[in-house]
Amino acid sequence: MISNNVDYAEYLLRKGELVAIPTETVYGLAANAFDEAAVNKIFETKKRPHFNPLIVHLKSGKDLSKVARNIPVQAKILAEAFWPGPLTLVLEKKPIIPDLVTGGKNTVAVRVPNHPLTLRLLKQLNFPLVAPSANPFGKISPTCAQHVADYFESEIGMVLDGGVCEKGIESTIVGFEDDQAIVYRLGALSIESIESIIGKVSVKNHESKEAPIAPGMLLTHYAPKTKLVVCENPEQIMREYKNQKIGVLLTKSKLNNENIVIEKICENEDYEAAAKNLYSSLHKLDQMGLEVILAEKCNPIGLGKAVNDRLFRASQ
Ligand code: TXA
Ligand code: MG
Repeated sequence: MISNNVDYAEYLLRKGELVAIPTETVYGLAANAFDEAAVNKIFETKKRPHFNPLIVHLKSGKDLSKVARNIPVQAKILAEAFWPGPLTLVLEKKPIIPDLVTGGKNTVAVRVPNHPLTLRLLKQLNFPLVAPSANPFGKISPTCAQHVADYFESEIGMVLDGGVCEKGIESTIVGFEDDQAIVYRLGALSIESIESIIGKVSVKNHESKEAPIAPGMLLTHYAPKTKLVVCENPEQIMREYKNQKIGVLLTKSKLNNENIVIEKICENEDYEAAAKNLYSSLHKLDQMGLEVILAEKCNPIGLGKAVNDRLFRASQ
């Protein structure tokens, strides 16, 4: 059921059911973080391996010390600057967080999402929510309620409808090694924005095919069913796919060709827009019975880097 009834979402979550929730990044598949049976349902529903830990969603940064300890100063500064917002911090966990949530790690990933309905829901609950993106493991993340319903309609109690996600790609994940901030997943908060607050950070955006080393970044992810090829300029490689049904995802160049499906996701290097439109355009292209999607890279600035990261993983 798709509905904007926050009270009903609260009721289901208190009963240990799953509810898909809107956030500013993507829709999440939420459960009570302290209820192991409910958390387990997330792994089963998503077909997600247990080694891949979940993000804990809090109603406010003030609750951080309830779930994490030994919080580095830089983490506090970042939380202050960007919460509620698309930043996830990986911190030493407190025992109250079940091992199931963290894949047995001694760290927990935490964020405060910036969406009015979900913040209201979190305030009505007396527990935080764990919420991975509401897609089957490895598939394209959902950026509207209908995307979630298309995946899970019969399996979950409710999709809380908060409209189209404003950011459109997942949060940026930042962890700490020897108190130094490290970006583990590129996402909706740009590196430039983070560096404007705490100075230079390093990026360890793991590309692992197996259990990811530290924070999980699997090489194959966000993948459409249709083959996807990332390139500098789709027009230049189109002839290699002659006689095939081609779809094109454009970020920079212009292309007029009535015989192919074209999704332009941004104008004038507006990579915030590219991030916002990326998954919905991929969902759309993936439903058209195409043989190949040619996706044009962004320039590596701002959110262009995160969009390129998702395109690369979708192409593996
Ligand atoms: O924007 C988002 O972050 C969305 C919305 C729903 O909040 N959630 C999301 O969750 O993207 P998910 O589960 O699709 O991605 C969470 C990522 C995974 O790559 C996981 O490995 C990493 O966070 N992660 C979670 N806990 C971690 C931990 N303790 N240490 C390292 N990485 C962790
Ligand atoms: Mg995900």
